[in-house]
Amino acid sequence: MEKGNSAPQRLRQKINAILSGDDNLANTETRISGWIRTARMQKTFTFAEVNDGSCLANLQVIIDQSFPDYEKITEQLSTGASLTVDGLIVKSPGQNQKFELQAGAITIHGTCPSDYPLQKKRHSFEFLRTIAHLRPRTNTQGAVARVRSRLAFATHSFFQERGFNYLQSPIITASDCEGAGQMFKVTSLDLENLPKQDGAIDHSQDFFHKPTFLTVSGQLNAEAYACALSDVYTFGPTFRAENSHTMRHVAEFWMVEPELAFAELPDIAACAQDYIQHLVKDILENCKSDMAFFDNFIEKGLITRLEKVASCDFARLTYTEAIELLEKSGKKFEYKPEWGIDLQTEHERYLAEEHCKSPLFIVDYPKEIKAFYMRDNDDGKTVAAMDLIVPHIGEIIGGAQREERLPILEKKLADHNLPKEAYEWYLDLRRFGTVPHGGFGLGFERMVRFITGVENIRDVSAFPRVPGHCEF
Ligand code: 4AD
Ligand code: MG
Repeated sequence: MEKGNSAPQRLRQKINAILSGDDNLANTETRISGWIRTARMQKTFTFAEVNDGSCLANLQVIIDQSFPDYEKITEQLSTGASLTVDGLIVKSPGQNQKFELQAGAITIHGTCPSDYPLQKKRHSFEFLRTIAHLRPRTNTQGAVARVRSRLAFATHSFFQERGFNYLQSPIITASDCEGAGQMFKVTSLDLENLPKQDGAIDHSQDFFHKPTFLTVSGQLNAEAYACALSDVYTFGPTFRAENSHTMRHVAEFWMVEPELAFAELPDIAACAQDYIQHLVKDILENCKSDMAFFDNFIEKGLITRLEKVASCDFARLTYTEAIELLEKSGKKFEYKPEWGIDLQTEHERYLAEEHCKSPLFIVDYPKEIKAFYMRDNDDGKTVAAMDLIVPHIGEIIGGAQREERLPILEKKLADHNLPKEAYEWYLDLRRFGTVPHGGFGLGFERMVRFITGVENIRDVSAFPRVPGHCEF
């Protein structure tokens, strides 16, 4: 094994810095580290394509046969091996890259035997899910990870630049925000030996002295902080124990939840449109080569589709208008559209993709199908709810103006069969200086799908948790 010189690791340059560097980089010395994607032995030299995850592109390393221990080194350069190379950056004669590296010294950190599952060929996404610990080394998953990371950065910058405070809301909770009963239980009781009282589990002996769960949403806590700091957002993991086997659902996902005080539904919708457009523009500007890759290999026309989203005004329909349009559409839907039903994905997709051909806010849903906290409209039938539907994905955002009037909120809790005692603190926000307010939740994985064109949510979540699967 050839040892590199003793220069410290931090002299290392990332490959994206080299490949995007200017002409002055030519004929300078550098150090890079990474993993071999492929190595090709020629008559008098060997090419190794090295990737360090800093960008989609590999850096081509050239090892001349005059290299000390040439045979011994090159036989270790198999796909997947990790190495550090010191060498000279030279202009590449090839079309595909600006620079290549002439190796001066090589340190192999780890060799990689031929049973490495990521040999140079196309692997199906299904297969890659079974090796989720290795798949970030593939082009698609590397690009998804970089875009996802940038989306998180752009989320923080969007809200921070507009004076929102970032709230870290709790993960363990005693209240079911959505009232849908899809919560994972959290307990420290011995499941083999549950304490019982009158036939029921005695939660007074549990860690929190009551039943607790993983949160489905940070909204209720965000409301408390919005009713003090005016504008806040959460960005954290949320959990839903719904037995859905679809391309849109995972049991653990990240949600971005802004909450705005002194705001009504149109203000909340305007914030949602600005936020989505900010994300799209930021990614098109800052993730160019990853986006070109998705446009080429995942969804043809992706960049044009997103450019339209970045500049168009989002459409808006009331739920009642949406139902009328669906009824008049002449389309055969699996679920018949009629006033009062929850809109199905097939309905949402028709409206966004065929009718509006743009992202679409649907507002003012029947109160029976929406959560207790949504503000009653004057018609007595609907609430100030707001879903954002986008082509290809369906629902990406769910939000609402919140019911800020104490007596109405108390009645709504009762109508939803929710125990008032558990929500006393939430009612306090209406008792003490109540304000019109509202917000929304963006499903972060659904946003990654929308931006990358990757169809299945299991391929944009690093280690997806879905019914029956919690590996890695
Ligand atoms: O519509 P939802 O249930 O709304 C709320 O939780 C509100 N409390 C948000 C708020 O107003 N602060 O969920 C919001 C979004 C959905 O639009 C969807 O994008 C995503 O969260 N989502 C899921 N994403 C992946 N897998 C699941 N199982 C999801 N369930 C919801
Ligand atoms: Mg929803």
